[in-house]
Amino acid sequence: MIEGTLPRHVAIIMDGNGRWAKKHTLQVALGHRKGVEALRAIIRESSDLKIEALSIYAFSTENWNREKQEVEALMALLLEYFTSEIDELDQENVCIRILGDKDGLPPPQREALYKAEERTGKNTGLKLNIAINYGGRAELARAARELAQMALRGEISPDEIDEKKMAQMLYTHDLPDVDLLIRTSGEMRLSNFLLYQCAYAEFVFPTVLWPDFDINAYHAALSAFTSRDRRFGGRNK
Ligand code: FPP
Repeated sequence: MIEGTLPRHVAIIMDGNGRWAKKHTLQVALGHRKGVEALRAIIRESSDLKIEALSIYAFSTENWNREKQEVEALMALLLEYFTSEIDELDQENVCIRILGDKDGLPPPQREALYKAEERTGKNTGLKLNIAINYGGRAELARAARELAQMALRGEISPDEIDEKKMAQMLYTHDLPDVDLLIRTSGEMRLSNFLLYQCAYAEFVFPTVLWPDFDINAYHAALSAFTSRDRRFGGRNK
């Protein structure tokens, strides 16, 4: 039982799969596979707790720089995930949205992602945002480009461009800002994830490696959030 008001939007950087694999003398791909198992439980718990949105970082624009074998393993895992889990996610009323450049992915993955969004788009339960081929700076550049094009077409005046207009051009345009950001494995960085949306997020950095992040660890992070004093730059009375 968690006391207090839960976050509306939770973002998670699922870090530590590689170290988990090393610790268990397994190949890194098996660490990622174990990471998917951990994710399954966290998605279900988020649904049960009626959290509005959960955003997870599955593959960044920088992850292409990893060894070919690891990139291929991650791509295969993504495809497998979207093939094998989609029925259950749909049944659980989860609405999937991909954050990132789907068109920069190999055709089978790209198609699976478009299909998952289409199939679950009208679901009214947990909004599950999966960041794939995503970078926060690229997302902001894309928003700026879109606004510049609108201005060129005469649809808006440059003077009208404000924080709200920027937010409307992001993948998360209709969602609340991130309230809680969790990064596992003890690393304390944002790594280009949801830069705009995390402006006033509370950060929690559990030391546990992602494959070991279970419901108890999730509850601990949520409890840490509910005990924070959020002031948004103002002053509480
Ligand atoms: C970071 O751990 C994790 C990733 C780069 C990928 C996260 C992906 C998954 C959990 C599985 C795929 C997701 C879906 C939705 C199917 P790391 O490898 O950087 O860990 P390390 O820092 O210990 O090496």
